[in-house]
Amino acid sequence: MTATPERGDAGQPSESELSMGIDPYERNWMRFSVAMLVLFFVTVSVSGFALGFQVNGAESEVDPRNVLETEPWASPGLREISPGQYEAYVVAQTWSFVPREIEIPVGSTVDIYVTSPDLQHGFKITDTNVNMMVVPGQVSKMTFTFDNVGEFPYICHEYCGKGHAAMYGVVKVVNPTSEVSE
Ligand code: CUA
Repeated sequence: MTATPERGDAGQPSESELSMGIDPYERNWMRFSVAMLVLFFVTVSVSGFALGFQVNGAESEVDPRNVLETEPWASPGLREISPGQYEAYVVAQTWSFVPREIEIPVGSTVDIYVTSPDLQHGFKITDTNVNMMVVPGQVSKMTFTFDNVGEFPYICHEYCGKGHAAMYGVVKVVNPTSEVSE
């Protein structure tokens, strides 16, 4: 017997020629690896572009040593920029958030800006995709529309010292019409 690979009827390369001597078992693992890469690429693309999960960029840079003396950070909190549109400036510091409570009517869209005058913190609002790192010297920004009535606690999710667990606050999303009727 010769070792020459057999040719098919129409002179097509045989299966063993096509495989370039790669073990079928290994070939399946290569297919699996490529399929996983494609899957991850699709997953990241869909979550990033269709669902809006983005790494927050530096909205702007600030000097952490005097950020709290300059507006708007000297008076953090909620500002209404037009009906249903708000800006919230939140200071994350050891070991509290200022403000500790944000109350908005249901359906409001809020541009949330967060910065830190001291060290690295996190800002995550429960049951939303608002999740940011807060880095001294930078302003992190995310925009979110609160379509559900309820209380949405925000927490620091970056360990920042002994008071880390005490760093929290709450977004209260209220129904304005029900408040009037009370
Ligand atoms: Cu701030 Cu943990």
